[in-house]
Amino acid sequence: MNTTETLCASFLLALLAPLQIWGDENVHQGPFTQAECLQCHTDRSPALVIQWSSGPHAGIDCAACHGDRHDRLPEARRDAACSGCHAGAVEHSYASSKHGVIVTLQQERKGWQQPLVRGNYRAPGCAYCHLHSGDHGDTMNATRGRHVREWVCSGCHAPRYVSDQFIAGLQLLEIGRLKAVEAAAIAARHPQGPAALAEPMERVKKHLRNLRLGAGHQSPDYQWWHGQPALDGDLIRLRDSVARAQRKSQLEAVDSWSE
Ligand code: HEC
Ligand code: HEC
Ligand code: HEC
Ligand code: HEC
Ligand code: HEC
Repeated sequence: MNTTETLCASFLLALLAPLQIWGDENVHQGPFTQAECLQCHTDRSPALVIQWSSGPHAGIDCAACHGDRHDRLPEARRDAACSGCHAGAVEHSYASSKHGVIVTLQQERKGWQQPLVRGNYRAPGCAYCHLHSGDHGDTMNATRGRHVREWVCSGCHAPRYVSDQFIAGLQLLEIGRLKAVEAAAIAARHPQGPAALAEPMERVKKHLRNLRLGAGHQSPDYQWWHGQPALDGDLIRLRDSVARAQRKSQLEAVDSWSE
């Protein structure tokens, strides 16, 4: 469609829209383009569109989660709407948590017809935590403050249990950060400078992120296997590389004296 046609189509749709009652047979089901989604929903759900355009998915079309038709809301609630784009450590840390295991076992039975509101599901999937109650920003974003997350979790868990989990998570991360600081100090002692260890230092970053995901997604696997022990392994390997490089440069110095 060219712009004029799009405008005409949207204008027609906008004329029809007020006559429609949601769930009515007459509701236009799509398919719609991104411009059409925005056109209607900027009017109908302005808060939602503002959250979307200032949140992490601002560059992502509505249809990436919703499909381009109106009858697919339940699809957007399923983990499958997220895991394609968030494959790898993000998806795996969740899949290896109790939440991920329970949701995976139950998802076919539940049908995802219920909105993602407090305590409405037995265990939380991706969107239950991150797009809670139709939130189109990121409900779990740390800058929203601890109480927002804790409120979501305490729909199912005792508040005391939840705050203990977050305190334990922060401590876990603090220890991880100390290890990253130590790694940088070891790398600085490399005779060719820290740039010689750029690759192992990338692994330190990756393992620190695993730890963050392990704490955020309540995955013991990411806290205690891909997280802390992986960082310990990094420190051992970094020390080893530096010691070997120092020995080598000392030997080279001795060689050059004896020449
Ligand atoms: C012609 C105007 C129009 C267009 C275009 C449009 N919508 Fe809607 N949409 C509505 C109306 C009307 C409702 C129901 C009332 C409300 O929630 O405001 C609705 C409701 C929804 C709902 C809630 C459904 C439910 O079961 O509660 C979702 C999700 C949605 N739209 C997504 C989209 C997406 C994604 C697009 C683009 C692919 C889109 N809409 C395009 C008018 C439109
Ligand atoms: C079409 C691809 C796509 C889909 C589908 C998608 N996302 Fe994203 N998401 C992204 C991109 C791109 C970013 C921004 C870059 C990044 O942080 O990875 C992002 C960012 C995020 C962030 C913020 C990450 C941060 O670092 O702060 C969260 C949380 C998130 N997505 C959760 C979800 C959830 C939950 C779903 C399913 C309901 C979902 N995403 C569906 C592509 C996608
Ligand atoms: C990252 C995935 C994702 C993107 C991108 C996304 N949505 Fe949604 N949307 C969801 C999920 C998940 C829900 C279900 C929330 C619930 O059940 O509480 C939802 C719910 C909605 C609803 C129903 C709100 C309510 O309170 O019941 C509307 C309307 C909607 N989306 C419109 C849009 C529009 C318009 C866009 C693009 C501007 C968009 N969404 C982009 C995942 C997404
Ligand atoms: C029990 C609630 C919960 C569930 C379920 C959940 N998340 Fe998260 N997620 C979190 C928390 C908490 C964080 C940590 C945020 C932080 O500290 O920055 C997080 C972090 C993230 C991040 C940021 C990663 C980064 O590198 O910063 C992304 C992206 C994400 N989750 C996507 C997903 C996806 C996709 C799923 C499903 C496959 C999912 N989440 C399931 C709570 C949840
Ligand atoms: C929709 C309900 C629901 C929400 C919301 C929810 N959980 Fe859970 N959570 C469960 C269920 C069910 C289990 C599995 C309990 C069991 O049988 O061990 C579980 C398990 C856990 C476990 C593992 C306990 C163990 O014994 O290994 C932790 C930790 C946890 N949740 C923390 C959280 C945190 C933190 C949040 C918020 C970011 C959260 N949960 C949100 C339902 C929920």
